[in-house]
Amino acid sequence: MTVATTGSTDLRPATAATANPLVAPTAAGHHRILTGDRPTGPLHLGHYFGTLRNRVELQAQGLELMIVIPDYQVITDRDRADRPAEHAENLVLDYLAAGVDPERATIFTHSSVPALNQLMLPFLSLVSVAELSRNPTVKDEIAHSRQSAVSGLMFTYPVHQAADILFCKADLVPVGQDQLPHLEVTRTIARRFNDRYAPLFPQPQALLSRAPLLLGTDAGKMSKSRGNAIALGADEDETARLLRGAVTDPDRHIAYDPENRPGVSNLLLLTALCQDRDPHAVAEEIGSGGAALLKRTATEAVNEYFRPLRARRAELAADRTVLREVLHAGNARANAVADRTLDEVRTAMGTC
Ligand code: TRP
Repeated sequence: MTVATTGSTDLRPATAATANPLVAPTAAGHHRILTGDRPTGPLHLGHYFGTLRNRVELQAQGLELMIVIPDYQVITDRDRADRPAEHAENLVLDYLAAGVDPERATIFTHSSVPALNQLMLPFLSLVSVAELSRNPTVKDEIAHSRQSAVSGLMFTYPVHQAADILFCKADLVPVGQDQLPHLEVTRTIARRFNDRYAPLFPQPQALLSRAPLLLGTDAGKMSKSRGNAIALGADEDETARLLRGAVTDPDRHIAYDPENRPGVSNLLLLTALCQDRDPHAVAEEIGSGGAALLKRTATEAVNEYFRPLRARRAELAADRTVLREVLHAGNARANAVADRTLDEVRTAMGTC
């Protein structure tokens, strides 16, 4: 197996119905991309290799990038958002450090764009309760929720997400596999609105990363809340400490076998992603060096690859007014776009 790591070949358009690794990458040019990350903590290496690096690559190819920081979505599975503004600024920090160009990208928060939120009302009328109850990702999030009861916001957030995507008429959405059911809701809403009122909206496509999923240091899904993540901004010592504690197995012969040896294979994959190599080749090089050598190799690879990003991050972190200004400008741009779309929606519906 090879790991595609850079360039446009890293991406393929897909929908829930047609997820197909053989679809050719979409040509650059006239596309608007929308994606986002909940403001609940710093971004980690899983985000970086799963989507962040792709966004930077797509922007470099000339595609327009919109990034929503969905602060309202944070209160779908918990009672209160913890320091949402601070987390939002830190996301901006991670984006800029990773190479997102804030002059050309629009980075904004849900709560700052009233017209986007208003789209949720007509959109809610276009989906049935039965359709919403079938959404597997919402079911999974309900199962992992920190709340005893399911709120209306949790139940309907894929409709809110449709508003995120459609307010700016984005046609491409780089997301992980778990978000495909939401994309399907967005496509359904766009299609029904267009049929019922006027053809205003594109039917957006998902862009799935080709890089295999990076796991956390416990070989489970890498996640801020599970304590198994390595943050983009972690320093070199912290990276070494976290990787030393990673789950492996006693077999001294290192081989890439994600099914049977998830911990070892994940460290090989991480090294391969950082060095733009095949994980099998990394395994061969380590041979019978055992888990200790594997962990040292992975640590060096991560620290080497992320050194420039982390240096940029530290520089940017020194002046947080820049981060606030980027958000301020992004919110203003997003509002202008949302106001225009809401006007079109109201005209199409005959409400003004
Ligand atoms: N639902 C995404 C998540 O849970 C975040 C998100 C909100 C998003 N709006 C979006 C992603 C629009 C892509 C497009 O992480």
